[in-house]
Amino acid sequence: GSAQDVDAVEDFIVSTVVKPDDFALAALRRAAEHGLPSIEVMPNHGKFLQLLAQLRGARRILEIGTLGGFSTLSLARAVPRDGSVVTIEHNPDYAEVAKETLSAAHLGDVVDIRIGDARAVLDELQNELSDPDIDSELFDFVFIDADKENVPHYLTAALELCAEGAAIVLDNAVWHGAIIDPQDEAALGVRGGLELLGSHPHLDATVIQTVGTKGWDGFALALVNRT
Ligand code: DHB
Ligand code: MG
Repeated sequence: GSAQDVDAVEDFIVSTVVKPDDFALAALRRAAEHGLPSIEVMPNHGKFLQLLAQLRGARRILEIGTLGGFSTLSLARAVPRDGSVVTIEHNPDYAEVAKETLSAAHLGDVVDIRIGDARAVLDELQNELSDPDIDSELFDFVFIDADKENVPHYLTAALELCAEGAAIVLDNAVWHGAIIDPQDEAALGVRGGLELLGSHPHLDATVIQTVGTKGWDGFALALVNRT
């Protein structure tokens, strides 16, 4: 089918099955109004993340790459009211938009937005886990959707923060097909991440290819299995 068919099918899926509510629509509108790049997950993918996290029974979720908080909203909806989402965003202006979006959706108290370089914040989270004075828990669901160059590092660092049986989802796992012939640092990063998923002794993983208005891409899904 043509790209036009794919877009029409996506519209149908979103309007018929997913039906984003007013808070989700406001999240998208707010991000656009603030001029954020339109690279957030599509509503059908956001709902997929929410359902995956619910399937996993996730109580504590880590997200790397908040952007305007659209995926964060989906993840926050998956945890119980006493659960939490820690989300890392490098750009303080984006983080501010996300904060507004999550507060407007009455989920501000569920989400802990950490502003900074993700590599540094992941180190900080590791330190918090090993500090007996800080009440901090391992994660049972991780969504990685930040700069692609650092995907292998994010996977490695996230794994150290994961409980046994945790699920890790990587966005942009196909990157318009560039993973099989990487020509730039971003594509090399994603490919390196996939190679890690395929070779790591403590991960069982797969990749699902996707199409949609944002092009040809995919989700990688991995389960932490240390037994
Ligand atoms: C880009 C990043 C993403 O995470 C995405 O889903 C789509 C595009 C980008 O940096 O171009
Ligand atoms: Mg993405």
